[in-house]
Amino acid sequence: MVDERIALGAIVTGGSSGIGLATIQMLSARGYVAASFDLNPPADPGIPFFKCDVSAQESVSGAVAGFIELHGGIDLVVNCAAISSGGDVSKNSDEEWAQSFNVNVTGIARVVRNALPHLRNSDCPVIVNVASIASHKGIIDRVLYSATKGAVSAMTLAMAADFLKEHIRVNAVAPGTADTPWVARLLAKADDPVAAKVALEARQPIGRLISADEIALAICYLADPRADSTTGVVLDVDGGMHNLAAGR
Ligand SMILES: NC(=O)c1ccc[n+]([C@@H]2O[C@H](COP(=O)([O-])OP(=O)(O)OC[C@H]3O[C@@H](n4cnc5c(N)ncnc54)[C@H](O)[C@@H]3O)[C@@H](O)[C@H]2O)c1
Repeated sequence: MVDERIALGAIVTGGSSGIGLATIQMLSARGYVAASFDLNPPADPGIPFFKCDVSAQESVSGAVAGFIELHGGIDLVVNCAAISSGGDVSKNSDEEWAQSFNVNVTGIARVVRNALPHLRNSDCPVIVNVASIASHKGIIDRVLYSATKGAVSAMTLAMAADFLKEHIRVNAVAPGTADTPWVARLLAKADDPVAAKVALEARQPIGRLISADEIALAICYLADPRADSTTGVVLDVDGGMHNLAAGR
């Protein structure tokens, strides 16, 4: 453990792939010590990694202890880990509902709860959650996933209100469909992956998928200590999907 921290410390759940990985790379370039809390290690062995299942308390507390051992403090928590689910309301079992909520929603509460004593010691503590366009727009065959992401958006606002007095800022990003391994996996399951990608692109008013870097940039903005007045914000990074009626 270092005695006097110079760099800000960030933990990023789901930081070994896609949006989380892009966020770690951008935070690192900005001088943070940023670690991935993930089930799997990142491909780059230079990224600090703590094996972590956000659905299990002991796993989360162990990873937080490991990061404190490495860096001495936590200034930023980015909650990016989540799992996908498909189907209308009749399709998912109670077990699937419990599992998705445990990872996507309770996982955030668990990580924040464990990081909180360290955030309270920071001069500029921030939490950034990753919600989704599905938090506030009805998308076909995404009932369970949307329910979890609506909860992420709601809990972001509630946490922001609770932490006003302690000056812990809490914000979220709500991405549209992003070009990450998550979407690549969904497309690979489609009957016609090329046509499915064209349909996803056409669904977004800007006519293309969002890059992981664009979402990481929004996360870095919300995390930046200079954004000191920004709390309780759910920032769309969705190519206009939420607010614009027009396509291209
Ligand atoms: N890709 C999109 O189109 C899109 C759109 C809106 C929101 N999002 C959200 O962005 C976030 C990241 O998505 P992505 O596209 O980068 O996905 P991704 O699949 O590339 O990365 C997700 C990461 O989360 C990790 N993870 C899964 N379960 C975990 C657990 N229990 N504990 C710890 N880590 C776990 C995975 O191992 C993986 O590394 C998710 O919250 C997702 O809901 C994605």
